[in-house]
Amino acid sequence: MLMNMKELLEVAYKNNFAVGSFNVANSEFVRVVIESAEEKKAPAIIQIHPNELDLVGDDFIAYVRESCKNTKVPMAIHLDHGSSVKDVMRAIRNGYTSVMIDASHASFADNIAITKEVVNIAHDVNVSVEAELGTIGSNEGSSEGGADEILYTDADDAKRFVEETGIDTLAVAIGTSHGQYKHAGKPELKLDLLAEINQKVEIPLVLHGGSDNKDEEIAQTYLHGIAKINLSTDMKSAFFQEMRRFLKDNQGAYEPDVIMPSARNAAKEVVKHKMDLFNSTNKA
Ligand code: 13P
Ligand code: ZN
Ligand code: NA
Repeated sequence: MLMNMKELLEVAYKNNFAVGSFNVANSEFVRVVIESAEEKKAPAIIQIHPNELDLVGDDFIAYVRESCKNTKVPMAIHLDHGSSVKDVMRAIRNGYTSVMIDASHASFADNIAITKEVVNIAHDVNVSVEAELGTIGSNEGSSEGGADEILYTDADDAKRFVEETGIDTLAVAIGTSHGQYKHAGKPELKLDLLAEINQKVEIPLVLHGGSDNKDEEIAQTYLHGIAKINLSTDMKSAFFQEMRRFLKDNQGAYEPDVIMPSARNAAKEVVKHKMDLFNSTNKA
């Protein structure tokens, strides 16, 4: 069933688990996320970044909506890293049930102003809003972007930001980066900072850059307010790694129904593992 993300995250927040939010960029990944969610009886979010929306085209969202409406588990369709009111309007027109406005690169005052504008627009049509304070890191190859240096979220700023904007959920910077940590190794997450933010902010928190972290640290985050974990790279790399292997071993293969299944299964294994790790299995 298709839901507003706020209602979905309230349940996770109150019950100490996190809902996986997976970036899809074609119908294969939509199937991967929905099948995994149903097999694990886990709620899940399908998120689509503006670059991914450019790739699939606006009409694709109608297919995603129909697919989500027919699931047995709760689902939401979320705009990942919208960068302008224009991105947000495009998402709402297409039928997303949730949007992110990422003005984290702007000044504190400008971030508040643009986020408030988005909240006014989105709440009128029952669409939930995520915003970001502080900046998560970036790694090469990820379309989600990020900053070269991580600016950790300040807990008092976070409290003020949430009060002034009226957002439904806040993305925090506690040490993760988008993509794989090729050079620096897996980061240490600032779990103390997360706990402090969670004390001061009374809405569900979001962790970006969910791939390639220490499992034992991820398993701590949902005990301190993280109710949504964004995951892209680990799922996509499993898919394409298996596809590369398959094509190398089957040089003449050209039928999608022959090539796709093993790649799809490899991605599903990752997604299902994440659902266990995020403690969202059997929560639907
Ligand atoms: P990863 O690519 O590290 O999983 O991050 C995904 C993300 O934060 C999308 O917004
Ligand atoms: Zn992100
Ligand atoms: Na990451």
